[in-house]
Amino acid sequence: MNISTNYDITKDELKGKVILVTGANRGFGKALTLDLAKAGATVIMLGRDLGSLETAYDEVVNNNFAEPILYPMDLEGATPEHYQQLQKDILDNFGKLDGLIHNASTIGTMMPIDQYDIKIWYSTMQINVNAPFMLTQFLIPVLNKSDDSRVIFLSSSVGRTARAYWGAYGVSKFAIEGLSKTLSEELEKTNIKVNSLDPRRMRTEMRRTAYPAENAEKNPLPESMSPAIVYLMSDAAKNINGEQLTLELD
Ligand SMILES: NC(=O)c1ccc[n+]([C@@H]2O[C@H](COP(=O)([O-])OP(=O)(O)OC[C@H]3O[C@@H](n4cnc5c(N)ncnc54)[C@H](OP(=O)(O)O)[C@@H]3O)[C@@H](O)[C@H]2O)c1
Repeated sequence: MNISTNYDITKDELKGKVILVTGANRGFGKALTLDLAKAGATVIMLGRDLGSLETAYDEVVNNNFAEPILYPMDLEGATPEHYQQLQKDILDNFGKLDGLIHNASTIGTMMPIDQYDIKIWYSTMQINVNAPFMLTQFLIPVLNKSDDSRVIFLSSSVGRTARAYWGAYGVSKFAIEGLSKTLSEELEKTNIKVNSLDPRRMRTEMRRTAYPAENAEKNPLPESMSPAIVYLMSDAAKNINGEQLTLELD
């Protein structure tokens, strides 16, 4: 299902909503954090680098958008105990969670499978698959406290059609598609809607790493794509469930 990026954000349309974004410090995560906060949502900004998280926080606050919460966490090293603590912190402070956006990812390395570095394979699967699995598992009880909550797993075209040399990253996105679909079926009778989303190409660090020789200027900025996330968190999108979503470049 295609989702238009041409969405006008209305002030306070997400007021009262609490939304957790992983990798909120830069790239697409930062762009969508700014837009969600612009729409009035309280964003729990999860990231591993406190300095850039604080810079992104300042940007939100300096724009007079809803004040976010910083939550430093390294998804590679996080254990079930860390996720348990996060669950408790959200319950104690907000009593519910309305949105969970699994945005953080690592590209790993571009290499054929028969030569793929095993350590990079493990860390890529840990950050891109195991962490979203654990985060989701621990946050389902908190998402259940909301009368209308959404989970979005950031995916990629290489998680829908296999491409040579994309290695652990491509495989991890196939796993994310499977996780998203399985979860959406299991939660069908709850208030939690679950979808995967391919944002298409964006001018970020990840894209530069994957395509070092291309002219980055031709790729859209993440902030031109992120209003679609506000739409996906809005009332208008409340019946979208179990879909493979793709952002539509205008
Ligand atoms: N850009 C594209 O063209 C494109 C295309 C298709 C899909 N996507 C998907 O869109 C999402 C956002 O991509 P992007 O382009 O914004 O990527 P990016 O610029 O590389 O940003 C990745 C984010 O993930 C965070 N992250 C990585 N490892 C982490 C860890 N161990 N713990 C916590 N956070 C960690 C990074 O934090 P640090 O700053 O600490 O590294 C950063 O905030 C990803 O899921 C990606 O797969 C992107």
